[in-house]
Amino acid sequence: MEIFTIDKVRKTFINGEVEEEILKGINLTLKEGEVTALVGASGSGKSTLLTIAAGLQPTSEGQIIFEGKNMTVMSSEQVRKVRASKFGFVFQFAHLVPFLTVAEQLMLMLDVSESKLKKQEQKREVDRILKLVGMDHRKNAYPSSLSGGEKQRVAIARAMIHKPKVLFADEPTASLDSKRSKDVMSLIQDLTKTLNITTLMVTHDEEMLSYADHIIKMSDGLILYNKDSNLAPKEMA
Ligand SMILES: Nc1ncnc2c1ncn2[C@@H]1O[C@H](COP(=O)(O)OP(=O)(O)OP(=O)(O)O)[C@@H](O)[C@H]1O
Ligand SMILES: [Mg+2]
Repeated sequence: MEIFTIDKVRKTFINGEVEEEILKGINLTLKEGEVTALVGASGSGKSTLLTIAAGLQPTSEGQIIFEGKNMTVMSSEQVRKVRASKFGFVFQFAHLVPFLTVAEQLMLMLDVSESKLKKQEQKREVDRILKLVGMDHRKNAYPSSLSGGEKQRVAIARAMIHKPKVLFADEPTASLDSKRSKDVMSLIQDLTKTLNITTLMVTHDEEMLSYADHIIKMSDGLILYNKDSNLAPKEMA
C-alpha cells in the first residue's frame, strides 16, 4: 500500500540576499514494507528532502501526504504528534545518551512517544525489540562499552520501539566499517519487511543499495532516476 506521497515539493532557502531553490519539484511515493534508498552527490538535497518528508521543516511549495492526510496544512503541534508516534529516525551517529543503559534509552523513547503502555508492558516491549536487533544480552550496558555497530543497533531499536509506520534514516551506515554496515542494513531491511514499515534512507554507499527495493537518485534538487533496485545499473550510485 502507498502510505507516503511527496507531491511537487519545492524548498527555497534564503542565504543572505540570495534565494536558492534546493528542491525543485519532487514527486515520490513510498510503499509499506519497502526500503527506498536516496542517493546523489553531496549538496543535491537528500537530507533536505528527508527532513521535509519527516515534518522536521516546512515545504516552500507542494505537499506531504501521510496515511491520506496532508501534513503541510497541519499545525506544528499536530506534526509533532505524528512525528513522535508514527515516525522513527536513525542518523549517521547513534547519539545515545551516555548515562543511560541500553534499556533505559528505549524506555525514554516510549515516554517521548507518549506511549499508553504500563511500565511492565513497556519493559516487555523493550525486551522484544532488543531481541529483534540482537542486543538483548546488552540491555544493562552503557553506550561507552558498545562497539559502533552495536550502538547503531540500539539506535535502530530506539527508532522502532514505538512501532512507527515510517523509518527515516540519513546515512545510517556512514560511520561503520563494511561488515557492520551490511549487518545494520540487513537489519533495517528485515525490520522493514517483518514489521511492514515504510523506510526512506539516504546513503552514499553503493554496497548498501542491494538492500533497497527502490533507488532514487537526486541531482541538483531534482530526481534523476526512480527505479526498482534490481533494474538499477551499478554505476547509478
Ligand atoms: N537550512 C538551510 N539554509 C540554507 N541552505 C541550506 C539549509 N539546509 C541545506 N541547505 C543547502 O541545501 C543544499 C542541499 O543540502 P542537503 O543537506 O540536503 O544535501 P545532501 O544531499 O544531504 O548532501 P550530503 O550528501 O553532503 O549530506 C546544500 O547546498 C546546503 O548548503
Ligand atoms: Mg545529507
